[in-house]
Parts: sequence; C-alpha cells; structure tokens
Amino acid sequence: MKKRWRFALLTVAGVLIVAQFFGPARTNPAADPRLAFQAQMEVPAAVQEIVSRSCRDCHTNETRWPWYSYVAPVSWLVIHDVNHGRSHLNFSEWGRLRPDDAEDLLEEICEVAEKGEMPLRSYLLLHPDARLSSTDVQALCTWSAAARGQLRGARDHEK
Ligand code: HEC
Repeated sequence: MKKRWRFALLTVAGVLIVAQFFGPARTNPAADPRLAFQAQMEVPAAVQEIVSRSCRDCHTNETRWPWYSYVAPVSWLVIHDVNHGRSHLNFSEWGRLRPDDAEDLLEEICEVAEKGEMPLRSYLLLHPDARLSSTDVQALCTWSAAARGQLRGARDHEK
C-alpha cells in the first residue's frame, strides 16, 4: 500500500511538473499609448484610478501578473480570464473601437458596475481592494454618460 501511495504521489508531481511547460502564455502586448482610453477621450483622474485598481488586470495590456499566474494549472485559468477580458474590452487599445462599439462598451461598463458583475467574483476573493464602492460605481456611470454624450456629439457634428 505504501508503495502505491508513493507511486501515486510521484505521478501527480510528474504531471504537475510537465504541466508547467504547457498552456497559454502570459502577454502584455505593447500598444501605442495614443490608443489608450485616457488618450482617446476625457477621463477624470478618479475614473482612471478606479480602472487601474479594479479593471486593469483583465482589461488592459498592463496586467500585473500575480505569482500564482506562473503555476499551472491555476495559471491557465488566470491567463484565460485575462485574454477573454481583453477580447471584450481593452482600455489600452480603446482607439481601435468603432464609435458605435465604443458607445456600447461605455454603456456596458456602467451596467456591469451597477449590477456588481465586475470585477469577477473569483478576482475579488484575492483582490478585495478591487471591489467597487457605490461612489466608484457612480463615478464610472457619470463618466460613461458624459463620454457617450461626447461621442454622439462628435458624430452628429460629422453628419
Ligand atoms: C479577473 C478579470 C476581470 C476583471 C478584474 C474585470 N473584468 Fe470585466 N470581464 C472579464 C471577462 C473574462 C469578461 C468577458 C466574459 C464575461 O462577460 O463574463 C469581462 C467582460 C466585461 C464587460 C463586457 C464587455 C462585453 O463585450 O460584453 C465589461 C463592460 C467589463 N468586463 C467591464 C469591467 C470593468 C468596468 C471592470 C472593473 C471595474 C472589470 N470589467 C474588471 C474579466 C474581468
């Protein structure tokens, strides 16, 4: 019995070691700073601070990768969240959005904040400081409404 346990443990250890060599890569792709959301529109300092504190790790190219993001299989989950998050919304590459999509995203930012859907619950467990206060939600929504107004104004102006 003892030998079997040792074999089982060694097998698990072996699989974990091999797993470290597989899976997606952590990336922080360089982006033209002119594409960043704060370069594309007016963003109050308070909102920049909220995004940096609560959204940045999954919605910018400036992810702060925690130590467990280096250890498979947890790393696979973390990297998946970041890649998935960036694919929906990337504050570092805001300038790539079509105005219509930018407007929709701005609306959704306020929505997910109000509903408490973001930051993801799994993230809050390890980053309790990222939880949005009601003041944070208000700041995000006030900014979102103003920025949408500006986008619409710019579009009407072009017509
Ligand atoms: C731990 C990673 C993580 C953090 C932190 C995080 N998000 Fe997300 N976010 C995701 C993922 C993954 C998705 C896409 C999947 C989904 O909708 O659940 C997403 C989707 C979204 C969407 C929907 C976009 C769309 O196309 O529908 C919005 C808006 C959003 N996040 C805003 C925020 C805001 C604002 C913050 C900060 C207050 C934030 N997120 C923090 C991971 C994160």
